[in-house]
Amino acid sequence: MKNQNQPGLKSYSPYSKTEESCFIEGDSGLIYSGVRIENISFPLTISAVQAAVCSCLANGDKPVKLFQQKPFSDLSDYWKKLFGLELNRNCPPYGHFFNPIISSPDDIKKALNDLCRKAVTIHSGFPVSALLFTSEGWVAGVNVEVASWSLGLCAERVAIARAISSGYSRFKELHVYAPKSDFCSPCGACRQVMNECMPGKKVVLHHQNQTLTRHFTEHLLPYGFSSDILKNT
Ligand code: THU
Repeated sequence: MKNQNQPGLKSYSPYSKTEESCFIEGDSGLIYSGVRIENISFPLTISAVQAAVCSCLANGDKPVKLFQQKPFSDLSDYWKKLFGLELNRNCPPYGHFFNPIISSPDDIKKALNDLCRKAVTIHSGFPVSALLFTSEGWVAGVNVEVASWSLGLCAERVAIARAISSGYSRFKELHVYAPKSDFCSPCGACRQVMNECMPGKKVVLHHQNQTLTRHFTEHLLPYGFSSDILKNT
């Protein structure tokens, strides 16, 4: 079902074919875009509001307004209540848009380490950072935890969601760092999302002892879930 989608945003909805996008205005006045990012394992789909809210929080900002036409994102009411969001269904947002592209890091490990300060770890105290190299430049992500454990996003998925929500989908490689972990290793959900959004691309894991390991997305997800029936819908 096509809808009156927010102009300029394009969701990744190959399974439902339903466009879904939104904008979140932060307390700073910056506007964060969010689009629906589906996964062949449907429960791993990131809703437009989840993408935009996590992008805002990962920038140290606080969500204050939601701009979304129909259909509303999954759990929109949850997000509205959690942050007391004002809802605007008609007007597009006006102001400065958050640009997810950062300047190219000279030292990737140092950039990952500095980025960890932005992680929102209200439950775990376990920061993770990610730097996604796209054909438009580098996009940063940190893990974001919200009141409901299952609605936050890992650092890898924040970077991926930010990039796709800004229209950047040509990914080259993803760097990940978790300073409190001896050996940095992405979770299963992130491996599944990486496999869908950046198949055949490199993932570089930065470990505590200054070493790193390089992998291809498909090698991080042996025997991953796939079904031609779902792909053809
Ligand atoms: N986390 C990530 O950011 N990436 C992963 O691949 C593994 C887990 C985060 C999620 C949560 O904020 C914290 O680490 C503990 O699970």
